[in-house]
Amino acid sequence: MEVGFLGLGIMGKAMAANLLRHGFRVTVWNRTLSKCDELVAMGAAVGDTPASVVAKCKYTIAMLSDPSAALSVVFDKDGVLEQIGEGKGYVDMSTVDAATSCKISEAVKQKGGAFVEAPVSGSKKPAEDGQLVILAAGDKALYDDMVPAFDVLGKKSFFLGEMGNGAKMKLVVNMIMGSMMNAFSEGLCLADKSGLSPQTLLDVLDLGAIANPMFKMKGPSMLQGSYNPAFPLKHQQKDMRLALSLGDENAVSMPVAAASNEAFKKARSLGLGDLDFSAVHEVLKGTGGQAKA
Ligand SMILES: NC(=O)c1ccc[n+]([C@@H]2O[C@H](COP(=O)([O-])OP(=O)(O)OC[C@H]3O[C@@H](n4cnc5c(N)ncnc54)[C@H](OP(=O)(O)O)[C@@H]3O)[C@@H](O)[C@H]2O)c1
Repeated sequence: MEVGFLGLGIMGKAMAANLLRHGFRVTVWNRTLSKCDELVAMGAAVGDTPASVVAKCKYTIAMLSDPSAALSVVFDKDGVLEQIGEGKGYVDMSTVDAATSCKISEAVKQKGGAFVEAPVSGSKKPAEDGQLVILAAGDKALYDDMVPAFDVLGKKSFFLGEMGNGAKMKLVVNMIMGSMMNAFSEGLCLADKSGLSPQTLLDVLDLGAIANPMFKMKGPSMLQGSYNPAFPLKHQQKDMRLALSLGDENAVSMPVAAASNEAFKKARSLGLGDLDFSAVHEVLKGTGGQAKA
């Protein structure tokens, strides 16, 4: 199967590499073209523009930072829309809001192409290991065509029905995750300031009913003040913002998420946006700005 891949950030690079390892022929494009080199060394071809990738490939996947990037790659000059058409499919796996997915879907359909939104749950390591959870919605025939690729990228894919449902599901999941991260960080601070060993807290948590892979993986590095980005904090704050907006639309009160969003915003204002989202711990510790990757 030949696929195009637009966006080689933390996630896109790992996902495109996985497809190559599993025998897919992949043509990549990234706004910063030098990021294609590693994939080329693995056998990928490079397209000059999103349009040229779509022209070459029947199916094109995108993994971009946010709604504005997702829209720009489709609608701007040399974008996806210039070459999408009958018999071609476009799959956007970026985390965006439902309105962005619907806008892209309408435009692609108007050109005769098919569109699936397919954001993912899971971070850098699951992306490297092909263990993502894929939250797809939109054109069912295109979804079915993409199953061989989704099987390589993820451990499970869900087809959630109408366009926007994938985006919404992803935002709900990340809203919960961002709130959990804040509660976890507060707990680590409280243990420390009240004279307990935060490391012992990690051990206690890991044996109880609220044990989870996120606490297990992030806890030790948070205690060291080390935040090598697997999931950049700026993207987590974008997801909280979009989830809160979904709450506004549906009149769902989300005070915990709102408070968590403030902490992520504060972290961004301290210049921590490119670090891992667990760097919000620096805000809660009151030592913002001192953190390292
Ligand atoms: N990292 C995770 O754990 C994780 C997990 C699940 C979902 N996600 C979601 O997956 C998406 C990608 O995340 P990531 O961690 O891979 O992010 P990232 O490392 O920041 O990569 C972002 C990608 O988007 C591109 N981009 C940004 N603005 C652009 C624009 N205006 N036009 C064209 N390309 C643009 C970047 O290109 P340049 O290289 O040129 O900057 C890069 O390829 C995000 O929506 C994120 O929320 C991430």
